Amino acid sequence: MIDALNQLGELLLDGDAPHANGKLDVFDPTTGDLIAGVATSMVDDCLAAVETAEQAAGGWAAAPPRERAEILRRCYETMMAEQAQIAALLQLENGKPMAEALGEVAYAADFFRWFSEEAVRIAGEVRRAPMGDKRIIVLPEPVGVSLQITPWNFPAAMPVRKIAPALAAGCTTIVKPAPATPLTAYYIADLMERCGTPVGVVNLVLPEPPNEATVAMLAHRAVHKVSFTGSIAVGKHLLRLAADRVLRTSMELGGNAPFVVLADADVEVATEAAIAAKMRNTGATCVAPNRLYVHERVADDFTEALSARMAGLTVGYDRQPDAQVGALISTREREKVAGLVTSAVDRGAKVVTGGRAPDCGGYFYEPTVLADVEPDAPILAREIFGPVAPLVRFRDEARAIEMANDTDAGLIAYVMSGDMGHGLTVGEQLDAGMVAVNRGIISDASAPFGGVKESGIGREGGFEGIEEYLERKYVASNW
Ligand code: SIN
Repeated sequence: MIDALNQLGELLLDGDAPHANGKLDVFDPTTGDLIAGVATSMVDDCLAAVETAEQAAGGWAAAPPRERAEILRRCYETMMAEQAQIAALLQLENGKPMAEALGEVAYAADFFRWFSEEAVRIAGEVRRAPMGDKRIIVLPEPVGVSLQITPWNFPAAMPVRKIAPALAAGCTTIVKPAPATPLTAYYIADLMERCGTPVGVVNLVLPEPPNEATVAMLAHRAVHKVSFTGSIAVGKHLLRLAADRVLRTSMELGGNAPFVVLADADVEVATEAAIAAKMRNTGATCVAPNRLYVHERVADDFTEALSARMAGLTVGYDRQPDAQVGALISTREREKVAGLVTSAVDRGAKVVTGGRAPDCGGYFYEPTVLADVEPDAPILAREIFGPVAPLVRFRDEARAIEMANDTDAGLIAYVMSGDMGHGLTVGEQLDAGMVAVNRGIISDASAPFGGVKESGIGREGGFEGIEEYLERKYVASNW
């Protein structure tokens, strides 16, 4: 057991300890070993958490913005001071390589820093009505108690990306981390308490199975907002529940990102961007390129360069410290990825490199490049969430744009071109909330992250992120 896990102390139960509620087993995806048993929350526990958040809401909303900002700033500093420890815990439950775990902790901490800076800059508005009969005063107010549901692929960054803006705006929260990776969230909640977050402002719950408790929490009158990162299917379910109470929602849902390599692309730049985007988190991100459309003029060179880079990556089978590819989260995920590859191959795609789930304890899948994938292959229609790059050749740019947009998702699109004007022009025609031109990584606490179409509602991070937790009250007055 690593130190960070031990430090969680009484929050975690060892394998056989008796406890009132259920117990959730947490596994190390790199070995399949059981690493912890965590007490789960009953529906009543979750409702009690809502009530605690409600009781804390008034005091937190009234706290001076500077006080809120300084707590968030301390969270940033403490998280960075404890980066190695948090990364070790995160790696243990998520299976990502250490370099990525460290990167994720820094990315997460940056949301604390960014929103500590935003907390003191929440502005209202005063103007004269056009008729001159009154003043229009617009007051920003916290939305109130928010339920935040986070995924397993970024066990630190996704909770912090939601908690930090909520707290900056003056909201209290109930956080439900993913059952596969709850340990990092517990660590963060404890860290926040150590940094001065008042009791009741952040409340962690772990109902398992989650649906009944989620329904009950969303039905509680104190809850005014739900923020979710995860699949489109679950997002739609939550939106239906939210509709019953007309709740504010932020939905960061799945993607099906096209990666378009134009005829004038620099193959080296495009290859490095593809590796960065595709292989971040072993492909388990909603911004991972899912469909790589490559112009026939550069297709052979790009296929060769990408395959060589993919084949050269170090897979973290034995927890090598220098691993570049991690494990998938479960055998189920691995089987899904393997099934998508098989279905593409059955329809004529060629495996240029990889294409196997190695026979070992962990949930690994080899970095894989598939060439000559049929434009209508199922692998292009579903989020792969694994280290597989399916390549489709194209001749006509307009047709490539049409294929790129032929999806209900619209989170991000990538464009590679040697001519920035050309790249931006194509980028403008792609239906996505975010576009990356000649680069693979776009995520940044100071930028608005979010999608269009079924990829979601709202933006996280950037100046926009705090708005998700603010209402605007209009006060009409005669001075
Ligand atoms: C996600 O995959 O859900 C988030 C990725 C990111 O923040 O970059």
